[in-house]
Amino acid sequence: MAEKHYRCILEQLLLQMGEYVTFEQLVTQGISERQVREFADWAMYKGLPVLCDSEALCWPEQLNDLSPQVLEVMGEGCIPCRQVYYQEIVDSTNLWARRAIEAGPVPEGTVFAAGSQEGGRGRLGRSWASPTGGLWFTVVLTPTRSPAEWGGLSLISGMTAVNVLSAFAPECRVKWPNDVYLGDKKIAGILLEMVRESDKISYVIAGIGVNVNNSASSLPEDVVGKATSLRDHTGRLYSLNLILARFLNRLERDYHRFLNYGFASFRTEYQKICCHHGQMVEVQQGEQVLKGLNIGLDDYGGLLIKESSGKISVVHSGDLLLRG
Ligand code: BTN
Repeated sequence: MAEKHYRCILEQLLLQMGEYVTFEQLVTQGISERQVREFADWAMYKGLPVLCDSEALCWPEQLNDLSPQVLEVMGEGCIPCRQVYYQEIVDSTNLWARRAIEAGPVPEGTVFAAGSQEGGRGRLGRSWASPTGGLWFTVVLTPTRSPAEWGGLSLISGMTAVNVLSAFAPECRVKWPNDVYLGDKKIAGILLEMVRESDKISYVIAGIGVNVNNSASSLPEDVVGKATSLRDHTGRLYSLNLILARFLNRLERDYHRFLNYGFASFRTEYQKICCHHGQMVEVQQGEQVLKGLNIGLDDYGGLLIKESSGKISVVHSGDLLLRG
């Protein structure tokens, strides 16, 4: 079990990836010089790529620095025994999680992450381009609330992503149900799938994709111009370990709140960070398009649309288009 101060030091190094963090700077955060040296020895022993001189430490700049060892230390541990599996290349982390579930029980909170995906899957049967530099992962959950409420979990995952990414791009917003946007460009998407493995356990596999250090200009033609990445937006690289660790820690807290109080306890917060609350919208549902005013959400995360006739419809799935 790593010492608590290891997490603080790692957090600072990852936040300033590529820069030297001085011992002095760490000391101002309540960490002693002895603890910094102890951390440096531990990092070397674990084979972590920490650079160290007599006065400072550095986590070298990388497109993809994902490491299960680092993620384990960064965990705040609300879901016990968080296990992170990592592979350089997979077809899809959602498919990988599904195969693991089919092979035997998978503990709640298990994470499947990959450096790139060859068959990344998006919502509504679309594909999801997943080159190196992006953050592609799936979290396995076994919610105790009824499946009718799981739609709310999908919105909560989107909120979690917005809350984490806002630290680096404060203008991040969620588009119903769970897309993350920076202005009119998508930066992250979430695909929640259900796996019913036995009468007793049903799993939710929550797959999250974030364009972090990959450039959106190299994405397929149909998404270029509609997508962005943190790197495109801010001009710098970020530690995938840091973003994933923050996401998992936040999701764990939000997930427990969902289990205790349901989606309704998140509604106001969701509406605040939603880019189209109170606006005219169109929702494409197969061949049909529903137009109207977005007046909010029901207790399960369904979108309430008030049509010009005054009729209020609840939408549970579909593609939302923004209209001024
Ligand atoms: C969307 O269409 O917006 C959802 C995209 C979800 C992509 C993620 S990347 C990790 C996980 N594995 C997949 O194959 N898809 C999800």
